[in-house]
Amino acid sequence: MNVYAIEVKSLRKSYGAHTVLDGIDLSVMKGTIFALLGPNGAGKTTLIHILSTLSSPDGGSARIVGHDVVTERSAVHGSISLTGQFAAVDEVLTGQENLMMMCRLSGLSATEARTRTAELLKRFELQAAAGKRVKAYSGGMRRRLDLALSLVVPRPVLFLDEPTTGLDTVSRRSLWDIILQLKRQGMTIFLTTQYLEEADQLADEIAVLNKGRIVASGTAEELKARVGGEVIELRNQLDEVLMTIPTSGSLSDVQHSLSEVAAVLPPDARVVIRKPSMDDVFLALTTTTSAEHKEVIHV
Ligand SMILES: Nc1ncnc2c1ncn2[C@@H]1O[C@H](COP(=O)(O)OP(=O)(O)OP(=O)(O)O)[C@@H](O)[C@H]1O
Ligand SMILES: [Mg+2]
Repeated sequence: MNVYAIEVKSLRKSYGAHTVLDGIDLSVMKGTIFALLGPNGAGKTTLIHILSTLSSPDGGSARIVGHDVVTERSAVHGSISLTGQFAAVDEVLTGQENLMMMCRLSGLSATEARTRTAELLKRFELQAAAGKRVKAYSGGMRRRLDLALSLVVPRPVLFLDEPTTGLDTVSRRSLWDIILQLKRQGMTIFLTTQYLEEADQLADEIAVLNKGRIVASGTAEELKARVGGEVIELRNQLDEVLMTIPTSGSLSDVQHSLSEVAAVLPPDARVVIRKPSMDDVFLALTTTTSAEHKEVIHV
């Protein structure tokens, strides 16, 4: 039996002379969360569009639960749900009306649609706002409704394009809980994000996309280990980070690094040595100069 929900091989896509995806290889195990991490313009949405058949690749192949995204489009449609980067809700309708409409469009009877709408409103914490027009919803409520709409008919694979961009911390955490619940129910989730913490918190496996190529992949721990050693963090008395410096952790290396920065920092700065965070990983992998490891990364 195929253990992979998503398999991508040598996938390429260009717009005119602009190469957006320059040979992507990745695989996602069934029942796991995969995070594609990358800065603006890295090609994240382009990849999601190809995997969900909204756009065609120029080369390479991609399969969703064994179905080819180019030659078996309808089988792929039957296997996926997609929540796009920009909300697809009707603002004039209420949350409940949006859900009822989607249920009926998906072929549910009126009774089934009412039952499913009630279930989804409850699960996505939208009961209180069910009768309000979406125009009056907060960003977090819209995002939850958007996700609920894409799950009217449950499918094994869910694509989420930047599910929490622009949300406050509370809304973000509530969405993370929902995403983890979906995983517990057996769904495979492929999400894109610009937030390192999000990938760190949710994903079983992370790939970092930069300029159309996967520059690193692995678990959060593996990626952190790739940046190597440890990080010296210099903080002020308010516990704000003034500077971080990658280090091997050896006495001579720490001594050398501290002597170099001592002159520019307040004498009461505090020194902490810690494991690298996802932020350090992201910076090291997406900026060419800081991959030198010795370069001081200013936070
Ligand atoms: N239809 C298109 N025609 C021409 N260029 C495109 C098209 N779609 C995307 N691009 C270009 O492809 C590159 C990657 O875009 P994409 O939207 O995939 O990036 P992204 O990683 O999703 O970025 P963001 O974080 O801003 O959403 C960008 O340079 C973009 O301008
Ligand atoms: Mg995008």
